[in-house]
Formats: sequence, structure tokens, C-alpha cells
Amino acid sequence: METERKTKTAAEQMTDRDLSEQIKMVTKESHVRAENTELMLSYQRGQVTLAQYKLLLCSLYEIYQALEEELDRNCDHPAVAPIYFPAELARLEPIEKDLEHFYGQDWRERIVIPAATKRYSHRLRQIGKENPEFLVAHAYTRYLGDLSGGQVLGRITQKSLGLKNGEGLSFFSFPGVSSPNLFKQLYRSRMNSIELTEEERNSVLEEAVRAFEFNIQVFDDLQKMLNSKLTNGDSTLAKTLQIPSSMIS
Ligand code: HEM
Repeated sequence: METERKTKTAAEQMTDRDLSEQIKMVTKESHVRAENTELMLSYQRGQVTLAQYKLLLCSLYEIYQALEEELDRNCDHPAVAPIYFPAELARLEPIEKDLEHFYGQDWRERIVIPAATKRYSHRLRQIGKENPEFLVAHAYTRYLGDLSGGQVLGRITQKSLGLKNGEGLSFFSFPGVSSPNLFKQLYRSRMNSIELTEEERNSVLEEAVRAFEFNIQVFDDLQKMLNSKLTNGDSTLAKTLQIPSSMIS
């Protein structure tokens, strides 16, 4: 009885609070799980490999292509317009630049898109068509992540791979955002200005948990590819990544 009352009170309180607070709260546990994926643990140990980063860039390309195309197409939608910041946030071009740096001019023919990444981009395209009001959940997960822990990941990538003059690191750089913290505040206030029915709001929160889940699966899939292909002595992936097999693990 007591527990039941407590749960209800918490849920009631939630409805009074801002979307930005609620979304942070409901994805807290997922964030911890994302931080604890093998890929993110490699990052936290300061030891990302070239193979990990090159594969990650391929996945990010597919994800941001879908996310940004759907945001562009729905930019006038009332639940998208307030959080539409292409000049400040767009990642597709920087990723293309990084891919060209690592894979060469014919990078489009060379890149690999793992299955979990395809599932993520498929979901983004589906909600862009059917429920554009859910896009905020995905935009929040990716862009606010990139402006938070992502900044540290950039420095680790640069150090681990010995990259010079920001080459191959465009993804992490936001020239249109002079203060990530201030920009995040603005973004949160814009999120909070979106008018949503109770049902839509709950669906957005569910979608945010799903967005984290998609990211976790992308990281796990990527790592599984690297671990299994290499221990099995399969050189196809090494060839695709243009890396000697010995450098992948
Ligand atoms: C926020 C660290 C991975 C999504 C943050 C913040 C830190 C952080 C310190 C808080 C910044 C602040 O309050 O200003 C990390 C570390 C990671 C990691 C160390 C892995 C090594 C991820 C991943 C995602 C993600 C994989 C999603 C794909 C977010 C989001 C926020 C955030 C959306 C904003 C939370 C909010 O203020 O509402 N992260 N993160 N993070 N992170 Fe991460």
C-alpha cells in the first residue's frame, strides 16, 4: 500500500516537471549502461583503437544521415521547430569529412553499416514519417550526448590515435557552439517549450529510453564484429577498414 502510494506520488510529480528533467531522469539508468559498453569503457581507459573509431564513424554516418534528413523534412513541425538547430548541431558533413580522411575519396563504396545500426536508422526514418514528435527524444540523446561526454571522447580519440590538426576529428567539433553548457541550457528550454499531450509526452520518454538502447546495441554490435572477426582470423574486416589484422584487436 505504502509503496503503491509512493510510486503514484512520484509519477504525479513527474507530470509537473519539465521534459528536459524527465528525459534525463528516465534515461539515467540507460546512460550508465551506455557508459559501460565495451566501446565506451575502451574510451574511458583512454585506449580507443583505429578500428573501433573507423567502424564507429561508419555507424554515426548512417545514424546522422537518417536523423538529420528526418529533422530537415519535419523542421516546421511544432514538436521539431523549437529544437531544430542545423547550423549549430548538424553532424553529417563533419562525419563525411572524417570518413574521407580515414577511408579515402571513395569512402562511400568502402564503409560498412552493421545490422544494429541499420535497425536504428530504420526506426529514425519510421518515426520521421509516422511520429515526428518523437524525434526530440533521438535528437536529445545524440546531440546532448555529443555536447557532454562526447567532448572528452574527442580528446581521447585524438590522443589514442595520435591525430594531428584535428584531422579525422571533425565529428567532435562544434564550431557553431561557443559554449556547450550554455547551448545545452538553451536546448533544454526549447525542449520544455514543446507542447505535448500527456500521452505524447510519455511516448517521447519511452522513445528516449529506446534511443539509448539503440545506441547500446550499435556499440555492442560494433565490438562483437571486431572481437569475433579478429579472433577467427577473418581478414575481410581488416581489409575493409584498411588496417592490418594485427592492429584491430
Ligand atoms: C550527459 C559522460 C556516453 C548521452 C553526460 C554528462 C557526462 C557524460 C559527464 C553530464 C554533462 C553535464 O551535466 O553537463 C559520458 C561518458 C560517456 C557517455 C563518460 C562514455 C564514455 C554517452 C552515450 C550517450 C550519452 C553513449 C548516448 C548515446 C548523454 C546525454 C546527456 C549526457 C543525452 C545529457 C543529459 C542531460 O543533461 O539531460 N554524459 N557520457 N552519453 N550524455 Fe553522456
